[in-house]
Amino acid sequence: MEISNTDTIRISDAEFHMIADFVYREFGIRFADQKKSLVEGRLSKVWKEGNYRSIRAYLDDVKSDQSGKRLQEMMNRLTTNHSYFFRENQLLTYFSQNGGFQSLGYMPRQTHPDIRIWSAGCSEGQEPYSLAITLLEYFGPHLKAVNPFILATDISERALMKAVNGVYSKSEITENVNKLFLVNYFEHVGSDEYRVKKSIRDMILFRRLNLNNDAYPFKNRFDIIYCRNVMIYFDNDSKERIINRFYRYIKPGGYLVIGCSESINNLKHPFKQVAGSIYRKIEKI
Ligand SMILES: C[S@@+](CC[C@H](N)C(=O)[O-])C[C@H]1O[C@@H](n2cnc3c(N)ncnc32)[C@H](O)[C@@H]1O
Repeated sequence: MEISNTDTIRISDAEFHMIADFVYREFGIRFADQKKSLVEGRLSKVWKEGNYRSIRAYLDDVKSDQSGKRLQEMMNRLTTNHSYFFRENQLLTYFSQNGGFQSLGYMPRQTHPDIRIWSAGCSEGQEPYSLAITLLEYFGPHLKAVNPFILATDISERALMKAVNGVYSKSEITENVNKLFLVNYFEHVGSDEYRVKKSIRDMILFRRLNLNNDAYPFKNRFDIIYCRNVMIYFDNDSKERIINRFYRYIKPGGYLVIGCSESINNLKHPFKQVAGSIYRKIEKI
């Protein structure tokens, strides 16, 4: 590594590959060669603060840190947490307005037990909160009787902390949340911030989870898994492994939703594509 007066520390190709291989083994995320300057830009501060003599010394420190803090810090910096409310909204309204919930047996404004949705790679919470609002709008006063469960997971502890807190700047909110939703589901805190109301926050369980883990710690399956704009980081092997694992965690007839610009059509998996980026587990109940 080459320490200079600028903020960015330059590393050799070999050092970059050491980091890229480590990140791939731990998280299934593949950094192509052109991501070298991104890695340098995002980790330089950590390298400077840790006064490391080499990338090997840095990785040894990450590996030997039993608390997992160094590894966490690395992931917090390397992942891109960009998200916003009601992103790719057609993938939410597919269920509330285009028959998706009905196809799962959930009728509007009627009571049904235990709808379970998982936002896998939820970033700072905009996705699961948008899902909670969508459910509320669909089930209306019957939502409580539906006993909704929304699990929201991410690998980034920093993103999850913001998600749990549910506080967003005015600009993060106003661009994508309509006035009615703003009044009904958010409260003004401070001059330029809004907080998701407690009743909505209480609908979601936030947890840290690495999607690249061999198994997930869930007993019950989900009606819908949203995993949008997350697998863009993964190579095809990791994607295929994760999608096939998702399949096991989806109820028969349930759905997997990926991002609009993503595709899993070139991979081996048992899902049936029912619309753009919406896939279904077609299996007898
Ligand atoms: C671009 S955000 C997408 C957020 C949201 N799903 C959306 O579409 O707006 C991608 C998220 O995936 C998370 N992520 C990346 N690799 C992951 C992994 N191996 N396990 C769990 N989450 C991961 C990142 O931390 C980040 O918050």
